[in-house]
Amino acid sequence: MCGIIAYIGSKSVESVILVCLTRLEYRGYDSAGIAVLNNGELQVRKAVGKIKELEMHLQAHPVTGNIGIGHTRWATHGEANQINAHPHTDSQKNLAVAHNGIIENYYELRHEMLGKGYVFHSETDTEVIPYLIEDKMKEGASIEDALHHSISRLKGRYAFVLISDRQDKKLFFACDGSPLIYAKGENDVFLSSDIPAVVPLAKENYYIRSGEWGWIKDDGELVLFDKKKSPKTYETHQIKIEAKDTEKNNFPHFMLKEIFEQPKIIRSIIEKRICLDEAKVLFPEKESDNSYLGRLSRIVLISAGTSWHAALVGKHYLENIAKITTEVDISSEFRYRNPIVSGDTKVLAISQSGETADTLASIYEAKAKFLRVIAFVNNTYSTIAREANAYVDLLAGPEIGVASTKAYTAQVLHLILYASFLSEIRWVSKKEERKKLYSEIKKLPEQIEEILSQADIIKQWACDFKQSKDFVFLGRGLNHATALEGALKLKELSYIHASGYAGGEFKHGPIALITDQVPVVCIATKCETYEKMLSNIEEVKARKGKIITISSKGDEKTAKLADYNFSIPECIPLLSPILNVIPLQLLSYYVSVERGCQPDQPRNLAKSVTVE
Ligand code: AGP
Ligand code: GLU
Repeated sequence: MCGIIAYIGSKSVESVILVCLTRLEYRGYDSAGIAVLNNGELQVRKAVGKIKELEMHLQAHPVTGNIGIGHTRWATHGEANQINAHPHTDSQKNLAVAHNGIIENYYELRHEMLGKGYVFHSETDTEVIPYLIEDKMKEGASIEDALHHSISRLKGRYAFVLISDRQDKKLFFACDGSPLIYAKGENDVFLSSDIPAVVPLAKENYYIRSGEWGWIKDDGELVLFDKKKSPKTYETHQIKIEAKDTEKNNFPHFMLKEIFEQPKIIRSIIEKRICLDEAKVLFPEKESDNSYLGRLSRIVLISAGTSWHAALVGKHYLENIAKITTEVDISSEFRYRNPIVSGDTKVLAISQSGETADTLASIYEAKAKFLRVIAFVNNTYSTIAREANAYVDLLAGPEIGVASTKAYTAQVLHLILYASFLSEIRWVSKKEERKKLYSEIKKLPEQIEEILSQADIIKQWACDFKQSKDFVFLGRGLNHATALEGALKLKELSYIHASGYAGGEFKHGPIALITDQVPVVCIATKCETYEKMLSNIEEVKARKGKIITISSKGDEKTAKLADYNFSIPECIPLLSPILNVIPLQLLSYYVSVERGCQPDQPRNLAKSVTVE
């Protein structure tokens, strides 16, 4: 999940690469480095810690040039230190490599290179790449042929960029399973792990396909090949992301900005997807995909992390609205369980980044079983969007904060809209029912704005919870997923151990956790399981646990039982997962800030998990 950047252009390579690395830092930030070519001389600088450590190192040891590569790391092999930081060089320091992914056969390759007398300095898998290239060049191969030979030896998922003093006007690259994007502007050419890092200098882009490799010529154009060294053509697209989308715009953190963007995002989705008069939902991305939906009998939702929580909500929608048997699987489990499927099964892959390796691997597994795959992604140029048979754009805009917030509510909303879309095609809903649902959905933006207007209530709570060691989240039915999501948010942002449970499971073990030091968040908005949640609250109270409730506006009974109560505007139970998660997003954010954590870049995490 690290971030890679490479640059050729008229500007100072050091300043461009440092700016881009800062924008890529959300992808991994345990160490960073830069390699630059200046009149044929290769210069490498690396530092452990965040980008600012590298900046300070460069102030003391500057580099100059107009072609270079940079890397911000999320370690998989070898601890976070200066030696293991990228870029890694060959033994003669003629070439440098920055890599994202895992070379799964690195141990054998390292052993082979050691046997040839090469001395490894790092513990990383990456270091085998420059040695493989150097070794082939020693046999007289050009750097191009040595690169081609080397990638044929690699197993695993990777994207890497390479510069060499032998060809100091070219930027080399190879990609297989990890994201790498070619982007260019007026006088600037990039290779990057994502697009926001190169906006606004770049105006058009091309997502390099898995299996492609090549180089950028000094005129800025791509020379592209497939693994058999057959030349490939490419077509660039205009970059739609604007610079303002990638700035904090007066918010202290991207995460808070993205929490507060949710009313606008939900409003935009409603405007683009719902035709209220005709009681229709518009999914233009899938017109070619409707042919067999009538025969569809089973759906399998695959996803990871927060997107898996959205899938749990989606199951309720698809079964209760579209009347389709629906399973939910964690991507990293689906790919190994050899599912029993039939032709009228469809797989829905849910992924904010569109690059999650586990979800991508499950898509390949599903396609190997001849299942049709639809991807619900927030990046329509992503690998998952390309590998699926069709995709739905989540329309949430770039989500920079590592913790997913606006993409989650966009996922849940798209799942209920898709369920309603299917219910119409399958003749299992009436126009009036759909109209009623869409009218309720149209209230969401204002309801979320009302919740956000009371954010200070949650901010005050955070002061009381910053020393907590354990949190329990309880929810039932649709809001079991909300409890899981609230717990994940608090865990990943504040490093407090938090667990989410179905309320009915509380008495089957988790209740043993409760003391007067354990806050218990009970999601108790009005729905068919409301009374059962009240029983859960009483069980916590009887054991002196601290009670935090998310309740429906006007519900005095619940408010009286709670130590901390947050009221949510009344909504139909189907939509409660979208509203109920907002205060939990705010809780995790403010506790994180109170504890001096890094909400946008929590420790050990990365925004896009492109390793398995
Ligand atoms: C979200 O807050 C987490 N950072 C993480 O669980 C994330 O949801 C998961 O890695 C899946 O990512 P995706 O949606 O991009 O596939
Ligand atoms: N496997 C490489 C390393 O551990 C790259 C890690 C990554 O892609 O985050 O340095």
